[in-house]
Amino acid sequence: MRVVLAGATGTLGGVLVPQLRAAGHTVLGLTRSPERARELAEAGVQARVVDVMDEQRLLAALDGHRADAVIHQATAITGTPLRHRDLHPTDDLRELGTANLLRAAELVGARRFITQSFFLGYGYYDHGEAKLTEDHPFAPPGRGAFERHMRSMRANERQTFAAEGIEGIALRYGFFYGPEVSTRKLMAMASRRMLPMPKPSGVTCPIHIADAAAATVAALERGRAGQAYNIVDDTPIAFADFIAAVAEAAEAPAPRTVPGWLLRPTPYMHALMVGTRIRLANDKAKRELDWRPEHPSCHDGLRHMASA
Ligand SMILES: NC(=O)c1ccc[n+]([C@@H]2O[C@H](COP(=O)([O-])OP(=O)(O)OC[C@H]3O[C@@H](n4cnc5c(N)ncnc54)[C@H](OP(=O)(O)O)[C@@H]3O)[C@@H](O)[C@H]2O)c1
Repeated sequence: MRVVLAGATGTLGGVLVPQLRAAGHTVLGLTRSPERARELAEAGVQARVVDVMDEQRLLAALDGHRADAVIHQATAITGTPLRHRDLHPTDDLRELGTANLLRAAELVGARRFITQSFFLGYGYYDHGEAKLTEDHPFAPPGRGAFERHMRSMRANERQTFAAEGIEGIALRYGFFYGPEVSTRKLMAMASRRMLPMPKPSGVTCPIHIADAAAATVAALERGRAGQAYNIVDDTPIAFADFIAAVAEAAEAPAPRTVPGWLLRPTPYMHALMVGTRIRLANDKAKRELDWRPEHPSCHDGLRHMASA
């Protein structure tokens, strides 16, 4: 397929572009940076320099181009989001960015549209022990500052599914880790004994970025129109245990335990590491996309990363 990829230069995009090409798809990458566009071109990938938040420029940049699919992987989570406002540019990319990219899909004649969604769209709270399937309500109203994030995740998926003439698919990715910037930062912090293990600890759903990219290619080829898929590994894990595994992969000493309330001054972090306990089922993605995570647990993925 001919694919337009927003976020081709990002954390996931960097892994996804080679996987798409290896599967025989051609990619036109979008970036705001002329330098990154040159890097994409040097790697043999066509590129357009454009900000997806600017609808008119986006449509002008793609005028005359034809494609079968658009994939939206543009996010703006520079660094670890500590405060709510750190997520607002990403919220905007999920509302206006998605709307603009859907218009771009129409312009280029694309029938398929795949958007990046997020496992915490099920809600930042304690979901108990049961594994949630995609039938569980997604993006319920959020408390206080959380509502802006929930609204954007709701808008992202709803627009994708409702767009006329489009086969829309949403991938609810788990917590990314692997050979990428955030994991490397966590490993560096662990080496300096600056990475605390909260107690009590939340429960999270990791996904190695190579597995997330593989699921994206599978969804492009085999995903059902109007469907959301949980893209997580097989092993939900306590956040404290995830941090211990990161430290082990970094060959760092065991992290110190800190009381969870100490993270309250950074409310988003507190919600992620302490307040949210969530387990997701990935059976639908396995069944319908014919996809399996190569790294069924983050212990496996982090060990693999350390040995590489
Ligand atoms: N599920 C998860 O856990 C999850 C999800 C997302 C991100 N993260 C983490 O957050 C960290 C940062 O990741 P990130 O993906 O936000 O940043 P990133 O790696 O810098 O990638 C962001 C991508 O979105 C593109 N982009 C952003 N705004 C754009 C706009 N207005 N117009 C066009 N393209 C735009 C960027 O393109 P240009 O900069 O080239 O224009 C880039 O390709 C990573 O460690 C990642 O793992 C985690």
